[in-house]
Amino acid sequence: MTKTDKTKQLVGEEVVDYIKDGMKVGLGSGSTMYYMIKKLGDRVKEGLDIEGVPTSNTTAEWAKEFGVPLTDFSKVQELDLAIDGADEVDPNLQLIKGGGGALVREKIVAASAKSFYVIVDESKMVTYLGNFLLPIEVLPFGWEVTANKISDFGCEPKIRKSKGEPFITDNGNYILDCNFEKIAEPKKLHEELKSLVGVVETGLFINMARKVMVGKDEKVDVIDQ
Ligand code: 5RP
Repeated sequence: MTKTDKTKQLVGEEVVDYIKDGMKVGLGSGSTMYYMIKKLGDRVKEGLDIEGVPTSNTTAEWAKEFGVPLTDFSKVQELDLAIDGADEVDPNLQLIKGGGGALVREKIVAASAKSFYVIVDESKMVTYLGNFLLPIEVLPFGWEVTANKISDFGCEPKIRKSKGEPFITDNGNYILDCNFEKIAEPKKLHEELKSLVGVVETGLFINMARKVMVGKDEKVDVIDQ
């Protein structure tokens, strides 16, 4: 296991301490969440009574593998807590997410939770968002036109590919990865991109994280909003 994976495991396991009996919990996506879900499965086996709402098909598979009970929004309107990883976190706890292509469901789940906690290793902490390519989920129809409009904001959108074909999200859409490099005003950029026809959602998570847990070597720093 790499040092980064060990750090992801550390922070992924530590966040489970915040999950209490009876909670409805949003389960994010990504490798850090894998460790969280595995640990949560151990707690469920010990008697913890919770239900999770998964943000991706992969997360749902992990939950089933580790014995974490699942529910969905047809039965639950509000979640007590959502937990997820991130690709970048700035000093104001604004985020870029969507490296795994699950940003829409991740945002719906985070927005429906009373609290949203983010778990990262320290490599994700940045001064400015944008070094990581910003993922933007778009409708497949006319995606070239949407990409052209996005490029007016100062980037060159690239369609995400998997095995030579466009990557298809769990919602049946495409992802454009956009090289903004330095996003000086994340909220403004998110709002402007969101107003474009064809854009389903951006990977900018603005004013959503209440707590960010940062794994560093052998310890976890907790930053509260
Ligand atoms: C998926 C995400 C992930 O949370 C993000 O990519 C972090 O992943 P990892 O924990 O593997 O570093 O936003 O859409």
